[in-house]
Amino acid sequence: MWRLVVIWALPAVAADYNVINLDNATFPLLVGRRGWPPVLVRFDREYPFGEKADAFKAVAAVVAKSSSSTLMASVGISTYGEKQNQDVARRFGLIPEDKEELQNSDMDKLFPKILYFKPGDLEGQLYNGKVTKAGLLKFLGIEEKTCDVLTGEFCNEEQKRQLTSLSGKSPEELGKLLETLTKRSAQTLKKEERKEVDGQLAVLKKVLKAQKKAKKQKPPWADFAPWRVLQRGTLRFAHNRLKRGAFRAAMEEPQQAPRRSLLQTSC
Ligand SMILES: *[C@@H]1O[C@H](CO)[C@@H](O)[C@H](O)[C@H]1NC(C)=O
Repeated sequence: MWRLVVIWALPAVAADYNVINLDNATFPLLVGRRGWPPVLVRFDREYPFGEKADAFKAVAAVVAKSSSSTLMASVGISTYGEKQNQDVARRFGLIPEDKEELQNSDMDKLFPKILYFKPGDLEGQLYNGKVTKAGLLKFLGIEEKTCDVLTGEFCNEEQKRQLTSLSGKSPEELGKLLETLTKRSAQTLKKEERKEVDGQLAVLKKVLKAQKKAKKQKPPWADFAPWRVLQRGTLRFAHNRLKRGAFRAAMEEPQQAPRRSLLQTSC
């Protein structure tokens, strides 16, 4: 019972990160104004759910971390009570002319609809692509920064923990783990478990891919021991030479004052 209550109450309190809620009062203040950022507006239920809602939410989170200035906004339409925002949806031609007002059953058929407003554009451009994370990000020209398993860059704490635990494993162990996780991922899992298993699987696959790539780039004789010793020696010799050379060059080159233009970037 307690769980049911929590699930039911969730959408009412959890506003999606980086998504602005718009209505007929705030819409004209934020959308389509000259000199303002572009806005991607989603028209949907007041409390949207399902894959498309998840995709929009995920895109908003990526946009927040990107260098894009695009605002993500949502117009929540209700089909009961005050019939909130049906006027806004009609204004953008999203309600069929012959329909007096939207019913609950219309919502799944007609929505979500996503419109993109460039600065100065008051009509908006209807997004025709699939409402998926990849589709919307491509439309916005944003590349998601994902966890780099080689450098740890853009990885969250959980992913870094996984990378550390994977780094000590042999290829056989990694292969076994892949098998186990793939099997578990194919099963029905609780939401939290699903997140954990799929997260682990994604990191593991990336690691395996990076290893495969590294192996391909390494010539077969690279593991031949005498060659490796020789190679290390050669490398050290080259490294020392370079260091000496660079040191000498630094001593001989007169110090130059930095260019003015570099100093005058601010104010
Ligand atoms: C704007 O929205 C409010 C609240 O839903 C509504 O009462 C009002 O009639 C709307 N205004 C116009 C001009 O449609």
